[in-house]
Amino acid sequence: MKKAWEIGLSSTCIPPEHGGVGLSAVDSCIATEELAWGCSGMATSIMCNDLGLMPIVVGGTDEQKAEWLGACASDFKMISFCLSEPDAGSDVAGIQLLAEKDGDDYVLNGTKAWITNGGVADLYTVFATLDRSSRHKGICAFVLPSDTPGVSPGKKEDKMGQRASDTCPIHFDNVRVPASQRLGQEGEGFKIAMRTLDRTRPPIGALATGIARRALDESLAYAKERKAFGFPIAGFQAVQFMLADMAKDIEAGRLLTMQSAWMVDQGLRAAKVSSFAKCFATDTAMRVTTDAVQIFGGNGYTKEYPVEKLMRDAKLMQIYEGTNQIQRLVIARELLKE
Ligand code: CAA
Repeated sequence: MKKAWEIGLSSTCIPPEHGGVGLSAVDSCIATEELAWGCSGMATSIMCNDLGLMPIVVGGTDEQKAEWLGACASDFKMISFCLSEPDAGSDVAGIQLLAEKDGDDYVLNGTKAWITNGGVADLYTVFATLDRSSRHKGICAFVLPSDTPGVSPGKKEDKMGQRASDTCPIHFDNVRVPASQRLGQEGEGFKIAMRTLDRTRPPIGALATGIARRALDESLAYAKERKAFGFPIAGFQAVQFMLADMAKDIEAGRLLTMQSAWMVDQGLRAAKVSSFAKCFATDTAMRVTTDAVQIFGGNGYTKEYPVEKLMRDAKLMQIYEGTNQIQRLVIARELLKE
């Protein structure tokens, strides 16, 4: 993680005026695809810094950006995005973590869940509600160091895949946060979260494309070597069609990802296309890695060969940063609005 940061592969969204590398979304997707080809668990941990920092980029004042982005540009830090909760993953407006006003401070109480890098992060961006009955209109965003009194990470999740990436709940017990650490106005937190996700879903498409491309590369090499009925299995049309579908869908997922990243770079509203990219590329990764296991046959189902890891890793892609059911909901709403 530290090496990635030193060569500018993590915290890439910090603009140069705050000391960062300020990669465009397109550049960040190119890097993310390559990292995920190697290991998507590592890629998730590395790019999670951008997810954690994005609420400051989209919702912070100039002073807040100088302070928090500047600190993350000058020193190696890990940052987590704390949105999901045990009883509110897809339904962001239903979050329960309470922020009660007390003088110039807010006091946070509640629990976040499934937080990437949660147990090892230095800094959190946290979403809490001032009034649970107000739904999205009551949500506020905050930035706070992980050593703020009352903050404690819970037990690390024992996940099916992406095991290199730390995931845990975080408990907030009377955590006092000054108003100067609130991002945006009271009630603006929901829109900050949505604008963040519009920008961070293209890299999820890139991550999925990296996993899928690795599965295709492994499948091509294996199919040329493995023999059945006296011939390499790459000579059989049943295998060739699987390889062809893999390559076609990977290419399409990458193009959608790049289109959505380009729209983010142009400052265009990218909600629909970002959801196209996230949904298509991650469904592709699941299908391609499942077919890779099929091409490897019994070998593919063992840990001796690389493709079972890719299949386990791919499953998470359809779940995090908004399930693919939520992506379809976003796409449908955008279509109906148009
Ligand atoms: N940009 C700006 N504003 C937006 C917006 C966007 N993309 N999307 C919605 N809004 C606005 C709406 O216009 C509306 O504004 P008004 O009140 O002014 O009219 C307001 O926000 C509320 O919008 P909705 O009525 O659409 O809200 P909703 O409650 O129906 O929920 C949702 C919408 C799309 C389902 C949302 O809850 C959602 O995105 N859920 C998925 C959450 C998610 O992706 N979580 C991922 C966690 S992070 C993670 O997984 C990362 C990791 O570990 C690596």
